[in-house]
Amino acid sequence: MRRGDYENGRWQKRMTEARDLLDSYFAASEDRQRRLRETKSSDAAARVLLKHLVPVRYRGTGRIILTGLVRRRERRRARLIAARPELRLHLGCGGERKAGWTNIDLLGDPVDVAWNLASPLPFDSGSVAAIFHEHLLEHLPLRAGDVLMQECYRVLRPGGILRAGVPDAGRLIRSYAGDRSYLEELHPGRPAALLAVQELFYWHRHRTMFDVETLGLLFRASGFPGPRQREFGDTDLDQAPDTERRRAETLYMEARKPVNPVRSADVSEL
Ligand SMILES: C[S@@+](CC[C@H](N)C(=O)[O-])C[C@H]1O[C@@H](n2cnc3c(N)ncnc32)[C@H](O)[C@@H]1O
Repeated sequence: MRRGDYENGRWQKRMTEARDLLDSYFAASEDRQRRLRETKSSDAAARVLLKHLVPVRYRGTGRIILTGLVRRRERRRARLIAARPELRLHLGCGGERKAGWTNIDLLGDPVDVAWNLASPLPFDSGSVAAIFHEHLLEHLPLRAGDVLMQECYRVLRPGGILRAGVPDAGRLIRSYAGDRSYLEELHPGRPAALLAVQELFYWHRHRTMFDVETLGLLFRASGFPGPRQREFGDTDLDQAPDTERRRAETLYMEARKPVNPVRSADVSEL
């Protein structure tokens, strides 16, 4: 065999291997995405219907439009719920209803109040004891997430707690640039490690990514002093609302609304 033929043979083999790896990644990705879209036992009837009637790419918009149509009814519902003592809001609940919390999401999830969280919350200022959201902020454009955090601050009563959880993009990127063990633990078997990072940034209709610095910035810019990163289950709430299946991938932060909030007038006087 001539040297050129040998090199060609080796190249063909490496090309076939790369093609096989990429093709099996595409097949596995499509399978994962299909399983994510499949009807789940926690899906409300309206969501099951939506999944059957509306093509995937229009579903998010469809739910926002439908939620807008029932806005007045939901505002009345929120007013009734707000009359209860110790109001606790679970925003962007999805299928993860939590007992003891007022579960809020778009129409189609098992909610207590259906609400577009990119619009002002239907609760009075200073009326809420605690707010929890987990894997919600990354679905909103940064500006809408910022407005939502300010709304959280507004509706919390002094001393009220905000706990937020987001996918930990900072940790994933550090792992990518480091020994890759966390990345491999979370997203095993990708034929190239960067594909796992891409999935976090581009899949699941994600719009914004967070690390401790970015999430902390949103907390502080909304008025919460000293937001702190907290471990899964570690909280000043009487019970941690964290979802077990989110444990490995999630960055949690928590802060309290100050008992004597600083007014902007006070700041300009300093
Ligand atoms: C990844 S799911 C998280 C659900 C649940 N918190 C969990 O951790 O499994 C993101 C949720 O945010 C909700 N969401 C996204 N944009 C929203 C909006 N503008 N208003 C209300 N909910 C929204 C979606 O409907 C979805 O249920």
